[in-house]
Amino acid sequence: MRVLLIGGGGREHALAWKIAQSPRLEHLWAAPGNPGIARHARCLDLRADDADGLAGFARGHAVDLVVVGPEAPLVAGLGDRLRADGLAVFGPGAAAAAIEGSKAFAKALMARAGVPTARFSTFDDPAAARRFCRELGAPLVVKADGLAAGKGAIVCASLDEADTAIAQCMERREFGAAGTTVVVEEFMHGEEASFFALVSDKVAVPLDAAQDHKTVFDDDRGPNTGGMGAFAPAPPIDERMQTRVMREIVEPTVAALATGGAPYRGVLYVGLMLTKDGPKVVEFNCRFGDPEAQPVMLRLCSDLPELCLAALDGRLDRVSAEWDTRAALGVVMAAHGYPDAVRDGDVIHGLDAAARLPGKVFHSGTALEHGRVVTHGGRVLCAVGLGANVAAARQQAYALVDAVRFDGAVYRRDIGHRALERGM
Ligand code: AMP
Ligand code: GLY
Repeated sequence: MRVLLIGGGGREHALAWKIAQSPRLEHLWAAPGNPGIARHARCLDLRADDADGLAGFARGHAVDLVVVGPEAPLVAGLGDRLRADGLAVFGPGAAAAAIEGSKAFAKALMARAGVPTARFSTFDDPAAARRFCRELGAPLVVKADGLAAGKGAIVCASLDEADTAIAQCMERREFGAAGTTVVVEEFMHGEEASFFALVSDKVAVPLDAAQDHKTVFDDDRGPNTGGMGAFAPAPPIDERMQTRVMREIVEPTVAALATGGAPYRGVLYVGLMLTKDGPKVVEFNCRFGDPEAQPVMLRLCSDLPELCLAALDGRLDRVSAEWDTRAALGVVMAAHGYPDAVRDGDVIHGLDAAARLPGKVFHSGTALEHGRVVTHGGRVLCAVGLGANVAAARQQAYALVDAVRFDGAVYRRDIGHRALERGM
């Protein structure tokens, strides 16, 4: 099997590592990849948004499967472009990727399909948005409609904060065109989990569930980030909860997409809030989570390309994913300054020593400079451990973190604290 993987972050390193284990694999290319991915794949000088370049390469090299990691190319229609050339693409087309690309679209779909989510309204006019905030009362959440690199959801503790958030999105245009429309929604109380399902049109099978850590500092303090660490499985998602999420959320969502002319093929990421009234949707994403994919891939026993092809060939009713019974936990190491402006070019030491330890260090934002691996981007590495329980996985992950050094590294020391408080 000849596989082309699109993307170059930590999620894609985990996907590349897993794809490379497939006994059916003949060739793996990554566009653009990164120095970690380069251990498992041939990295191409092609960007994830170069649809024509990617299509030409994939056709010319008789690629059997294209796996798209990040959301931006999917929302921009890369899946449609490649499929138009007859390629097998794991990842939804633009119409279905709008479930992540437009929060207004996702909320309207949920309302139509009767999927539980926060009470909301959508606005193009700031005055009307402010009036609705007064009707809802604080706390509430203001969300830019479009993609905003994980920064477009603003949790507001007061109506003053809500007014400012609306100004940031709609008047000051801090998120560009993504903020011309906003969704204002009720604040939900509960515990969050990231739930992944493999989807082929109207058929969906559950994958693993994980828990992310959004804020930059320990004890869940500080500004939100793309995610500072994650573990899987998620203790609150037991078999009963998994069945409930599939029945109440995933199945009606994929049915509504298919009926609406936007059939979904790929991984559907459901950001869940487990409230006292049951599971509700915080957001949908049209791809695996980052850093959730790193621990999830360490637990996956099944052949990943085979699962992807089963989804594309409409054979999902005949497959189920097999999982390692152990827990996996990943700690993100970010660059100096994260989550604000970061510094590139800090030399990363200790990667060879870490490679001799149990567990796995995935590269997110790294580059090669004069033969040395240096920081290149916000989140730099994700160190993942595997263990009989979350506590053991965490010990292995932090042993890897302690083996790696670069100036100004930003990371949390308490990844997994919620599971540990439960005694997991
Ligand atoms: P989103 O970009 O929609 O995933 O939101 C980012 C983060 O904001 C989520 O992971 C939650 O922690 C928080 N959040 C978003 N919407 C809500 C909500 N309605 N109630 C409570 N927290 C929320
Ligand atoms: N870790 C959150 C995300 O991938 O969106």
